[in-house]
Amino acid sequence: MADSPEIILFQCQWCLYAPEDQDWVDHQLPQNVSLIKVPCTGRIDPLLVLNAVQGGAQGIMICGCIPENCHFKAGNLSARRQLDEFAAFLDFTGFDRQRVRFTWLNLQDRGRIQHDLSMFIEDVQALPEDDHLHTRIPAPLGGSDD
Ligand code: FES
Repeated sequence: MADSPEIILFQCQWCLYAPEDQDWVDHQLPQNVSLIKVPCTGRIDPLLVLNAVQGGAQGIMICGCIPENCHFKAGNLSARRQLDEFAAFLDFTGFDRQRVRFTWLNLQDRGRIQHDLSMFIEDVQALPEDDHLHTRIPAPLGGSDD
């Protein structure tokens, strides 16, 4: 397994209460983690997850508010239900469902994002490398000459 698996972190913009935690996510994420902020986890279309996997992501972490704190009533509950089903579909295709993880954060969960993310990265590193859904080739930098 690669030393630093590519991880995509979807983060609800409301779920981190401590400015230090948000600052860490905004400026100090490990280099192998890419951040996608969303207004609510309920806005994460499964196609975004598929796009990340096709782009080479080895793990997807979704970080949102606890159910009673979602700013959009039950966005997080519907996201979890929908993305759990999508993870099951990905698992059916051979992309281990352990590569998709939810974490819900509450007011007192200061510093937990760092812990949960590092645990997730460790768990993904322990899985055998899986690139079979990595189908998208990145565009060359600087454009082409023709
Ligand atoms: Fe945070 Fe819905 S507003 S998960």
